[in-house]
Amino acid sequence: MFGLTRARKTAAVAATVAAAAAALLSAPTAEAADSRIVGGSTTTTSAYPFMMQITDASQNQFCGGTLVSATKVVTAAHCMVGESNSSVRVVGGRTYLNGTNGTVRRVSDIWIHPDYQDVTQGNDVAVLTLSTSMSYTPASYVGSSDTGVYAAGTTARILGWGTTSSGGSSSNQLRTATVPTVSDAGCASSYGSDFIASDMVCAGYTSGGVDTCQGDSGGPLLIGGVLAGITSWGEGCAQAGHPGVYTRLTTFSDEVTEQIGS
Ligand code: ARG
Repeated sequence: MFGLTRARKTAAVAATVAAAAAALLSAPTAEAADSRIVGGSTTTTSAYPFMMQITDASQNQFCGGTLVSATKVVTAAHCMVGESNSSVRVVGGRTYLNGTNGTVRRVSDIWIHPDYQDVTQGNDVAVLTLSTSMSYTPASYVGSSDTGVYAAGTTARILGWGTTSSGGSSSNQLRTATVPTVSDAGCASSYGSDFIASDMVCAGYTSGGVDTCQGDSGGPLLIGGVLAGITSWGEGCAQAGHPGVYTRLTTFSDEVTEQIGS
């Protein structure tokens, strides 16, 4: 596998010289430079109340998540590998990583898709059950028959506290950007057999410049305001010809619904 990034807990690691050089080489083009996640702009959890920080027990954020009911949060399976109920917290209503406000919840169950092995093999979805309900407005999510939402070129919104460049630092404030969905054929030409169309959908500009990055994993890809994807992986971040890869939630919608009911 090539330079595949699954930042997660390494999000705060300082940039290496090589990463810094790579970041320069993949610097956004002039037209994308100001759409700065990578590219995009700051926002708040008031604007996106379902946007959750997934943190360790000390409330250090390492992934994003989406509140989909009073006690259920959708995130990425790769975020939850090696975690336990006692090692994870979900924090709502906290726009800044260094904030102490909002609502902190413990989790009473972590469901990781039973077929999850590695991000490039798909099934990158997990559902957390909160010990106590969270009073923020949840997001709705796609149904299994809503597969038309991914039509190539559709505008999708990404959100997170992840790094603002590959190998860079996390953003203290929540950021958001919009990126066009990419056709399955286009994504396959970028990633070959690591792209599994049944389980993944890509989004990003051909020229790069705007993308999710390390620490954004588990967070939402919204299409028409509805949760349609989960930030999963990519080669580097915001590189031309290498769009971000998201869990194709329509494929897992029924399983998520089953978890929400359990
Ligand atoms: N795997 C990363 C995470 O754990 C997300 C990477 C997304 N990469 C991308 N190029 N869109 O935070």
